[in-house]
Amino acid sequence: MNTIPVIAIDGPSASGKGTVAQRVAAQLGWHYLDSGAIYRLAALAAIKFGIALDNEAALARMALTLDIRFDGDRIWLAGQSVEDEVRSEAIGNAASAIATLPALRAALLARQRDFRKEPGLVADGRDMASVVFPNAHTKIFLTASATVRAERRYKQLLEKGLLEQADNAIFDRILQDIRDRDARDSARTVAPLQQATDATMLDTTELSIDEAVNRILAIHHRNP
Ligand code: DC
Repeated sequence: MNTIPVIAIDGPSASGKGTVAQRVAAQLGWHYLDSGAIYRLAALAAIKFGIALDNEAALARMALTLDIRFDGDRIWLAGQSVEDEVRSEAIGNAASAIATLPALRAALLARQRDFRKEPGLVADGRDMASVVFPNAHTKIFLTASATVRAERRYKQLLEKGLLEQADNAIFDRILQDIRDRDARDSARTVAPLQQATDATMLDTTELSIDEAVNRILAIHHRNP
């Protein structure tokens, strides 16, 4: 199983790694792991089951038996479809908080490695290259400036009709939220967000999604 190829794509919140990783997987005909969704599902389950977000032992126990299923864009928790709930900022923040707990991270390791199946896996997250798939064939650190990431997220909200009109205060809040989350994800002691020493950095501040996908495929195909 360790010989099945993996492309690991790590990066900060709203760097576009989800969209890019999904397209790389589709182009190669490989499986896709959204590891952030697993942390988000654990956070949502904790809230639903009334487990405190700092109760490390109870969270780790829960994570071992978490009943989750991915089916294209749909995500299921204990038989309920939860994709909208899981994507909310509130759950993102709760996920970032529980992601600081070593026992929870350890409990989620095997769940993530189970996605490594033939013919290959594209996995995105914060510690794909450093911890979960240290022997990944190709390692990418995808980033963009905080302002560009906030602009992308803000545009998404407008496009989804979740904002009635342009609103500077909301933009400022999104930017602050991204900066806070970056700080928390980078400062934690276990598996912090950082570029693995053997990863290639790809800054997408000035790249379109297609350009980012093509660069990653080119880096991957260049690997022996
Ligand atoms: O990528 P995302 O925004 O869906 O991730 C939500 C949170 O989960 C993120 O703030 C930190 C945590 N996370 C993590 O610690 N390790 C990962 N591999 C993926 C996500």
